[in-house]
Amino acid sequence: MTDPLDTLSGALEEIKQKGLLRSMHTIESMQGPVVKINGRDVILMCSNNYLGLANHPELIRTAASAARKYGVSAGASRLISGNMSAHEQLEHDTAGFKRTESALVFNSGYHANTGIISAVADADTAVLSDELNHASIIDGIRLSRAQVYIYKHRNVNMVEDMLRSINNESHDNKLSKKLIVTDSVFSMDGDIAPLKELVMLAEKYNAIIMIDEAHATGVLGKNGAGAAEMLGVSSGIHIQMGTFSKALGSFGAYAAGSRPFTDFIINSARSFIFTTALPPAVCAVSSKAIQLVQKHPELRQKLTDNINFLRNGLRSIGFNIAHDPTPIISLIIGDADKTMQLSSMLLGKGVFVSGIRPPSVPDGTSRLRLTVTAAHTRQMLIKVLDAIKNVCSFI
Ligand SMILES: Cc1ncc(COP(=O)(O)O)c(C=O)c1O
Repeated sequence: MTDPLDTLSGALEEIKQKGLLRSMHTIESMQGPVVKINGRDVILMCSNNYLGLANHPELIRTAASAARKYGVSAGASRLISGNMSAHEQLEHDTAGFKRTESALVFNSGYHANTGIISAVADADTAVLSDELNHASIIDGIRLSRAQVYIYKHRNVNMVEDMLRSINNESHDNKLSKKLIVTDSVFSMDGDIAPLKELVMLAEKYNAIIMIDEAHATGVLGKNGAGAAEMLGVSSGIHIQMGTFSKALGSFGAYAAGSRPFTDFIINSARSFIFTTALPPAVCAVSSKAIQLVQKHPELRQKLTDNINFLRNGLRSIGFNIAHDPTPIISLIIGDADKTMQLSSMLLGKGVFVSGIRPPSVPDGTSRLRLTVTAAHTRQMLIKVLDAIKNVCSFI
């Protein structure tokens, strides 16, 4: 008898042959700007902890006192007995932060996108999706069984052509709903979606518009509420999804919008209904993080200064770096093996930047994806630039 799992070993071997095998580094310290790997301190340049809040003393204190008050588990799903005051407080705080009528907490961004999209869209829906949208959006569309229209990255002309042709379909083939969905800050490139234009198209063609603010929440906008706030288009967006796990230094995600929308989601999103609620202490931490983000704009200013310093420094080394105001900066290498080789050379020099390969990014666009935070010091960033300059002379 052959082992039925042999097929998996074969598939794994194929991944290895393509140079795409993934493995994990172990962090032995807190998630600060410097972390310990194999007993050695290295500068962390690939975390989404953009404001450096993941080890903020006030958040640690909040976690400890909420755990003492509520315990460490919600014990059941929200709709059974896991709905605690910490969840509802976080929803209230999120709606205030995003200036929406209502908000709903999800266990993660992955849960939020798969749950929201598969609840809102069905086989009679046309979903228009940017080709570089996050995997959780793609999976949500797959689950929905909607008809998907993938448009070229940030290409609003293509979106309009698609909307027009969907509207012109004969009555029998007509799709009953249209949903435009996009990352607001693209997770692998750090550029920003053309939200103003997309909102106008949504209005013109009577489509629902949903954005994913995972990498914008806490980072962009006067109050840190995201790209929609920065671009002044919040009121034109029906569904704003975002995470507490990146700039807010916590865990979990939100969907913000109208009350009928969140009521509908509570009653239909399977990833909301069929899962144990987030631990209440995590919700308390997210609530406190929202307060910190609003109370301390200087954190965002420090982040902006570091973003500009690093982007300018990389330009002076010779990289072609865009002027986006985001902390995600990709150095496109192309070849997957070369990317991983550069990543391990950088680690050897005390700088941790993970290499990103397909399927996380399109074939031929393997890259070093650098992320900078408010917690990095100038000296750290100078060391990072020196290491990159040194290592990249090998490209
Ligand atoms: C754009 C985007 N959306 C959603 C997610 C998923 O969020 P979470 O990590 O909370 O599952 C991520 C990454 O983690 C992301 O980059």
